[in-house]
Amino acid sequence: MSTSRLTIGLAFAGLTLLLGACSDGSDGRTAPDTLAQGARAAGIEFGAAIDWDLNEPRQRILAREFTSATVENSLKWQSLAPTPESYDFTRADAAVAIAENNGLRIRGHTLFWSRLNGLPTWLEAELSATADPGRMLEALMQAHAKTVVGRYAGRIAQWDVINEPLALLSGEFEPDNPFFEVLGEAYIDIGLRAAHAADPNAALFLNETSVEFLPAKFEGLIALAERLLERGVPLHGLGLQAHFIFVPPDRDQLEAQLQRASALGLTVELTELDIALPLFANAPDPLAAQAQAYADVVAACLAVPACTGITTWGIDDGRTWLDSFELSAANAPNRPLLFAADGAPKPAYTSVLLALGPAR
Ligand code: G3I
Repeated sequence: MSTSRLTIGLAFAGLTLLLGACSDGSDGRTAPDTLAQGARAAGIEFGAAIDWDLNEPRQRILAREFTSATVENSLKWQSLAPTPESYDFTRADAAVAIAENNGLRIRGHTLFWSRLNGLPTWLEAELSATADPGRMLEALMQAHAKTVVGRYAGRIAQWDVINEPLALLSGEFEPDNPFFEVLGEAYIDIGLRAAHAADPNAALFLNETSVEFLPAKFEGLIALAERLLERGVPLHGLGLQAHFIFVPPDRDQLEAQLQRASALGLTVELTELDIALPLFANAPDPLAAQAQAYADVVAACLAVPACTGITTWGIDDGRTWLDSFELSAANAPNRPLLFAADGAPKPAYTSVLLALGPAR
């Protein structure tokens, strides 16, 4: 066994012994046996992104360790509606069933997103063929929300109604966004109001990426939320995706951002957490450094009562979007999650258990 693997092995063994020592309550701290047990004690949800094709080993981890599930792809508009006239809920229903069969809270992701496969393939052609694209798009959005949110009313607790409305690196609106191009900022009002009409009990979120390390973008998100609330739009939460690919989490900055969302009267969740291991390539023990980063994120959430949930964007390192995403694939394997590709818990898993451990 190489020295570095031996070091990691000893470190993990040491953490396990520490965890074992803690778990008997001898030092007053009782570390939970699972993430789910820790999350319940801490009063938050701890979730994972899943989809219709979740295999048996991952379903066992999901059932044992998590309290919440987000449907990663099958509830996106392009996934659901291959044509303007028809919906295919086969995969979405299968993903929702996995979560329901395990008694998990469900986050719906995402009704209106202009990037990657968020948009139906036919939408822009439909809009360019009509004399009144604004009227058509508003009607299509209302029908989409009614169809999808209505189908899962009372079953999906939270919806990422609007995903990534802002430009990648600024607090301005994403310019290459058909919703914004045709309707302006009002598209967000339309989406939220339609989702609320379809399920008045669902918590409705704006979900944004990269605000954790782009202060101007975060300010843009807060200002947008303030305008929506001033207009009386049904907005209940902000989702900070928390993808840490090129910048590690800053615990104090993250806590301050969560407090800002809370000060608006909103719930806030870390909705797509992953922390790429290459961030710590120069650390003496990268896995231990990753573990500390995860503990920092959990501590920031637990410090803010309005932070009601943390969701990791996947279960194990064997299935992560980062290893295929053009900006991070070069670093593959990114190993960003709490479980190794073989399903074994990593040091980050243990550090999250310890961070969740003492009840809030
Ligand atoms: O389902 C089809 C499959 O039938 C087909 O054979 C295959 C061929 O390419 O594509 C499959 O769809 C892919 C889908 O993932 C399911 O695997 C899409 O091409 C691919 O673009 C899609 O990538 C997803 C990406 O969002 C775009 O929707 C990633 O898995 C998903 O992790 C990622 O998640 C996003 C969040 O929704 C929003 N925040 C950022 C995050 C990372 O980009």
